[in-house]
Amino acid sequence: MANTFDVIIVGGGPAGYVAAIRASQLGLSVAVVEKEKLGGVCVNIGCIPTKALLHSAYVANTLTHQAKELGIETGPITTNYGVAMKRSRKVSVMNSKGVEFLMKKNKVTVIAGTGTLQKGKKVQVGDTIYSATKGVVLATGSRVKGIPAIGLGINKTTVISSDEALFLEKAPARLAVIGAGAVGCEFADIFNAFGSEVTLIEALPRILPIEDAESSDTVAKSYRKRKIDVLAGAKVLKATLEAEEVTLEIEVGGATKSITVDKVLMAAGRAVNTEEIGLEAAGVQLTEQGFIRVDRSTLQTTAEGIYAIGDVAGPPMLAHKGSREGVLVAEQLAGHTPHPIKYDNIPSVTYCHPEVASIGLTEEQCTAQKLEFQVGRFPFSANGRARTSGETEGLVKVIREKTMGEILGAHIVGPHASELIHELLVARENEYTVEEIDLAIHAHPTLSEAIAEACLDSLGRVMHT
Ligand code: NAI
Repeated sequence: MANTFDVIIVGGGPAGYVAAIRASQLGLSVAVVEKEKLGGVCVNIGCIPTKALLHSAYVANTLTHQAKELGIETGPITTNYGVAMKRSRKVSVMNSKGVEFLMKKNKVTVIAGTGTLQKGKKVQVGDTIYSATKGVVLATGSRVKGIPAIGLGINKTTVISSDEALFLEKAPARLAVIGAGAVGCEFADIFNAFGSEVTLIEALPRILPIEDAESSDTVAKSYRKRKIDVLAGAKVLKATLEAEEVTLEIEVGGATKSITVDKVLMAAGRAVNTEEIGLEAAGVQLTEQGFIRVDRSTLQTTAEGIYAIGDVAGPPMLAHKGSREGVLVAEQLAGHTPHPIKYDNIPSVTYCHPEVASIGLTEEQCTAQKLEFQVGRFPFSANGRARTSGETEGLVKVIREKTMGEILGAHIVGPHASELIHELLVARENEYTVEEIDLAIHAHPTLSEAIAEACLDSLGRVMHT
């Protein structure tokens, strides 16, 4: 095998493997170094298997709560997490093999092992040193983290992370989820549907704290209806670990509460993989927050010819942000001048039920920035299509800049929010106004009509409420 490539990418997740495909499409010779399975966290222990489990949860909830009303008679519904888990693994493996296929198809060399940077665009894997003529791209991703300070270091038995939750054979009877970001909310939804008694604990005043307050409130209300104990503004003071259970002392609403659970699922954020990849020796510096410091327009690190993309290169830690960064770096290395990335227009999606999706600013941020804006809302309870499927929780919220009509932010909570957000995303990317969205005739009956109506509402012309 040749030891010199145009581009060497360290890490084969959604950032790294997409960079590899694009670089290869542009005629560069490419190697990807991967120490585990291709596809990274997303494909193997993140986005893909969780979405498979969330689909099982959705079906379980539909059968439990809705089947009768839909005219479907069932016996008692029983769930089996182990079976759902095994299906999620199959989906995951299928996707990882898909990435392998794409690497072959694009003639990308995959080097199995741990890559360590060496000075001068070189990467060592085992005893071999590989050289890049154009650039080395770091795409080493992130991993889960616990809170060892209060005894909640991940021990993989009673204190687990999403890494272990994805492989459990059965749902724990009692589960505490610490952190109500995307990971926490998605797993609370999954385990609730599979019969666990779930307590969801969030330190900040509301769950999904980065989302618009109305989205957070809608999900919290829905969760409480499904008997998930949502504790926001809650502080875990102490954890006592026994062999098979954990007792948490939690301060919430001015009182102290104690709960005993079979497992604690830590979902309090992720740490980036920057250790032991030779950054210091190669002159690659970190930010105060621990990410690799990059120039956001080129994604070059502080070392010439070394680039960083994906989670290691800074927030938001999302697969699609990493993939786009991969495309940008590949195009640059091939001598093109790619469009800059609009970091303020990256969609955020949480695939819990109801789904949450957003772009741009929240209403709180618009107020804090003293912007002049108008808010348009349309509830799914008034949307014909949502009524046909009985999924009427939530709303579309569009925030319109008052003078020019541009979309400052858009927030959807409800059925298929993850898909619906893209109409607003494309509109905002291309600087369409709210009025221009309304000009496009939306098919009837569709959930998308709720978007058109929210736009109209921001103009004071809503039709169906
Ligand atoms: P996160 O940072 O998004 O959320 C963690 C939450 O835990 C925050 O709300 C934080 O306030 C809370 N928290 C932190 N310490 C706490 C404590 N001691 N007690 C109670 N609450 C505490 O991290 P998360 O959800 O683990 O996700 C990690 C990354 O992966 C994020 O960037 C996320 O966007 C991404 N991700 C995206 C998904 C998606 O797009 N659907 C799914 C899963 C993860």
